[in-house]
Amino acid sequence: MSKTPSARAPFRRALIPALLLLAGAGAATQVLAPRQVLAHGDMVPHAVDTTGLKPLGKDWEASNPYRGSDRAKEIGATGYNQNCARCHGLDAKSGGIAPDLRYLDVGADGDEWFLERIRTGAERDGKVYMPAFEGILSQEAMWAIRTYLDSVHEN
Ligand code: HEC
Repeated sequence: MSKTPSARAPFRRALIPALLLLAGAGAATQVLAPRQVLAHGDMVPHAVDTTGLKPLGKDWEASNPYRGSDRAKEIGATGYNQNCARCHGLDAKSGGIAPDLRYLDVGADGDEWFLERIRTGAERDGKVYMPAFEGILSQEAMWAIRTYLDSVHEN
């Protein structure tokens, strides 16, 4: 009487409709209580107001031009909470859905990896794990978010 795959199949058949039901309930909650659902940041990407930061040209910087800037950190914190927190966690403390960005390398190596990911996102086997932010966030906003992440870095 060991659990063969066929013995488990009926359970799986019951589980899938249950999950769909849950997903449906989630959608309904969003209509009824948007504030609660949006607690981890909005589901739609948000342009970030980068007023006060040195404007960057069209070319991509190789490393963070705002490193250490308090204004960039402040703007980046908002940008992060609106665009990244729903997956990477509030205050960059991951709840496990996506990597914990406090552990990203600081310095130029980390900058390069950060920029690559934020621009192109992450996709495998046709599944989007992380959306691409190029064309959604300005280069200024991306580096501001990087500055914020540097400020909460942990080893
Ligand atoms: C829809 C969920 C989602 C959103 C929104 C999201 N990410 Fe991600 N992110 C992921 C996942 C999942 C991974 C891991 C991808 C993989 O496994 O290849 C990831 C990976 C990364 C990495 C690489 C981390 C590492 O340790 O290698 C960086 C950097 C990153 N994200 C930055 C951001 C930033 C900045 C934002 C906001 C502008 C953001 N992400 C928004 C889901 C998300």
